[in-house]
Amino acid sequence: MSYVHQADHPLLRHALTRLRDKNTSTQDFHRHAATVSQILIMEATKNVPVDEIEVETPIQFTRGYNIHESLVFVPVLRAGISMLFPAREFLPWAPVGFIGLERNEKTAIAREYYQKFPDDLEHKRIIVLDPMLATGGSLVDTITALRRKGANTICVVCIVAAPEGIAFLQARFPEVDIFTAAIDSHLNGDKYIVPGLGDFGDRYFGT
Ligand code: PRP
Ligand code: URA
Repeated sequence: MSYVHQADHPLLRHALTRLRDKNTSTQDFHRHAATVSQILIMEATKNVPVDEIEVETPIQFTRGYNIHESLVFVPVLRAGISMLFPAREFLPWAPVGFIGLERNEKTAIAREYYQKFPDDLEHKRIIVLDPMLATGGSLVDTITALRRKGANTICVVCIVAAPEGIAFLQARFPEVDIFTAAIDSHLNGDKYIVPGLGDFGDRYFGT
């Protein structure tokens, strides 16, 4: 069974609280989403292998490290974009694949409207970025699409997860690890996360 890692840090708790607050402005929402994303990316990349190298400081040679594996970020459009820029501040060379999914407001079933992945996903470590894991439908569709393109090593980074979505994702892809800042109580009748933070994409993009 996959590993569900709930990150914890005072900066994370503070920023997540600001994201939950319905009175937080779009500008502040943006900033706090970046803080949460960066802490989660650190957690998700904690065990990425590194190569030992030699580096010359202005004083002398010493031991250094290079990240060994090829990482690929896959934000789920649209809200996943909020996590991509903070992630690329750390790893600006990492290629990016995109999938566009939009939940139907009545059925909560996601419809795919865009897909563009880098070639040769087989030997890459794929980090899927989507702030909200609600029913899990969007992430199951994303991982299904990545598997069809040959991806083997995949993990998911989300800001808030619902127990229903975690269970659905784990039932379909038990090998995919999940990194999150919060596991909330449940989904409401409209399939929104409770207590959640509302519609992430609308709040982030001010729509
Ligand atoms: C939101 C969110 C996830 C999805 C989660 O996207 O960003 O992608 O819902 O819900 P699920 O787990 O039930 O599939 P939305 O469809 O609202 O589109 P957006 O990113 O364009 O706002
Ligand atoms: N998508 C969101 O943006 N929020 C939710 O609570 C569920 C899905």
